[in-house]
Amino acid sequence: MFMFKKSIGHTLADMYNKISGPYFGMWVFNIPHFVAKDPELIKHILVKDFKNFQDRTIASNEQADEISANALFIMKNPTWKIFRSKMTPVFTSGKIKSMMPLINKVGEDLVAYLTKLSNQSDSIEAKEIASKYATDVMTSCAFGIEGCAFEKEHAAWRSMGRDMFAFTLINGIRSTSYFFLPKLVDLFKMKFIPPNVSQFMIEAFVKTVDHRKSENFSRNDLIDILIKLQEEEDFEGHKFEGNKVVAQAAQFFLAGFDTTSSTISNALYELCLNKSIQEKVVMEIKTTLEQHGSLTYEAIQDMKYLHKVVQDLVFFSIKETLRKYPALPFLDRTTLMDWKIPGTDITIEAGTPVYIPLFALHHDPKYFPNPDVFDPERFTDETINSRPYFSYMPFGEGPRSCIGERFGLITTKLALVHVLSRFEVECNNETPIPIDFEPKSFTLNSKIGLPMRFINIKQKPSYAA
Ligand code: HEM
Repeated sequence: MFMFKKSIGHTLADMYNKISGPYFGMWVFNIPHFVAKDPELIKHILVKDFKNFQDRTIASNEQADEISANALFIMKNPTWKIFRSKMTPVFTSGKIKSMMPLINKVGEDLVAYLTKLSNQSDSIEAKEIASKYATDVMTSCAFGIEGCAFEKEHAAWRSMGRDMFAFTLINGIRSTSYFFLPKLVDLFKMKFIPPNVSQFMIEAFVKTVDHRKSENFSRNDLIDILIKLQEEEDFEGHKFEGNKVVAQAAQFFLAGFDTTSSTISNALYELCLNKSIQEKVVMEIKTTLEQHGSLTYEAIQDMKYLHKVVQDLVFFSIKETLRKYPALPFLDRTTLMDWKIPGTDITIEAGTPVYIPLFALHHDPKYFPNPDVFDPERFTDETINSRPYFSYMPFGEGPRSCIGERFGLITTKLALVHVLSRFEVECNNETPIPIDFEPKSFTLNSKIGLPMRFINIKQKPSYAA
């Protein structure tokens, strides 16, 4: 893993497959780590004994990197609990519903961009077009500005996303150290977010807030909520100001952009490999749009097969995509106090890093027979109830699970609906089969992206947002 021959998710999966039993230990240099395999044990860690596992292992260094240290993913307790409760209202279904027109506008830009590009090229890289879409959705919903990723190849926000997630050695060392070598992070005052990206976000945030205040203008979005929180809220003795506030907007982009774009492009990839499922998904989209007349929140919720790619076929297909390709292929926690492994006499000492190998669980034939087969039917209620609940957790579980789950799913679903109502996706000779994963990335990503063919089906969109 440290030689970047294998990603963190795949290294944990190799060990998961080699070592039997409900858990195992591993040494990372001189530090013992605990890895939980058994779904019941995982439930203890993430939910039942959450009090003892409230923090992630990932390093946090406020002096080195104030933005990442104040983002929920990295923040430690007791501050995390206060900030998480203050940020939760941003992600209610009412708030997400009010963001639908913003997301739909970006969906239309995506279709216009693809229409132009598919006339010129037989091979389009799906991760890149999904990244452009996710960049514009996140900047519009979190910062209230247009990212313009489709207009300019080197649009500033898209470049920031590239810098943050580029498969470079420095990014590989940065993220591996944050997860596994926190002492190195402290020693070298390493930053999790590249300094140019942090600086860019701070400036963008300050400019937006100043503009809102001077023009007395509001948009009922994340920025407005943050301005109100800053003015009114008592953060139980913690000051909510400066880069602590910027971090809440920045995490929207940082945690939401790569995860969502990966899920969109991975779903398109599986649908181009599985044409009969694609046909059913397209039928479902067509029928729903005909019934609802437009692409509303209700229409999206009502779609039966796109979330398995979500509960409807589109939804089921998204769920199955996240099984095969969990954007974050592992979860991490740390023990705050000594902890006795339930049902044993073994005690795990306070401060021990704990890992949950998501990728391995999602590919375990015990829970998912023929794990390499893409099958949205794995997410019917009946099939879900036939396996342990904690064998599938693409958004994590318990109080520290993904705060943006609903937002990520809606954003993914809308992208798929926009694309698949206008384009058929097909493999070409550049499509990687199977995917070769990038070892320097802590999220799950294809080394060469996901090139494929987009065929315009020349059908006028039957919806208007
Ligand atoms: C398909 C898209 C996404 C996937 C697969 C995903 C996955 C995850 C996972 C696995 C975690 C760790 C959960 C745990 O440790 O139990 C997480 C945490 C988090 N995610 Fe997401 N995520 C997605 C989209 C988003 C979006 C759109 C946002 C923000 C707008 C977001 C914000 C966060 C934050 C802030 C955390 C840390 C939560 C905390 O520690 O309190 N995610 N996500």
